[in-house]
Amino acid sequence: MELIFCTNNEHKIQEVAQIMGEGFAFLTLKQVNYLSEIPEPFDTLEANSATKANTVFFYCNKNCFAEDTGLFIESLNGDPGVFSARYAGEPASSKRNIELVLSKMKGVENRRAFFKTVITLATPQGEWQFAGTCKGRIALEIAGQDGFGYDPIFVPDGFDRTFAEMDAAAKNTISHRKRAFEQFATFLKQY
Ligand code: IMP
Repeated sequence: MELIFCTNNEHKIQEVAQIMGEGFAFLTLKQVNYLSEIPEPFDTLEANSATKANTVFFYCNKNCFAEDTGLFIESLNGDPGVFSARYAGEPASSKRNIELVLSKMKGVENRRAFFKTVITLATPQGEWQFAGTCKGRIALEIAGQDGFGYDPIFVPDGFDRTFAEMDAAAKNTISHRKRAFEQFATFLKQY
């Protein structure tokens, strides 16, 4: 099954390919020659993900999906949330985002947080959404080299190391993305 994955983020593509397994082929935005930035102006992952998927669907009229992820930190009232990519401003930088989170959380005892992923599938038959979350806590300092984004400061529940200290296979058994894409893969197999 060939689907357009509305992203050019190599890390996401690799993670999703590993989670979904065989039987699916993904085309990136570059591969379908969609080169514009798609704005994410809404205050929910659901709305931003749907806009992305529908924008690309109307451009190429092929089955496509978008996924949007955010890190929601309890003691920061849910920030960075939908603004996770550009929390520390433009240009988007994971290093600066992490530094900002750690500085805001200096001395903060409640470190509870969760990742949430929302996928929107847009097809000629309609639109569907799938979501997955992963609960955990924000570490006191950066640890690990693997993964991407906020992985070096996120410790999932049941573990004492960050996502960035786990190899891809371990992260992909428990992650928000795994939980959302598992439902997505089950749906596509019946579709
Ligand atoms: P987006 O879904 O590409 O908009 O991602 C929003 C922000 O969350 C970006 O800064 C990503 O680097 C970060 N992010 C997305 N998924 C993950 C993840 O699995 N681990 C850590 N950070 C992530």
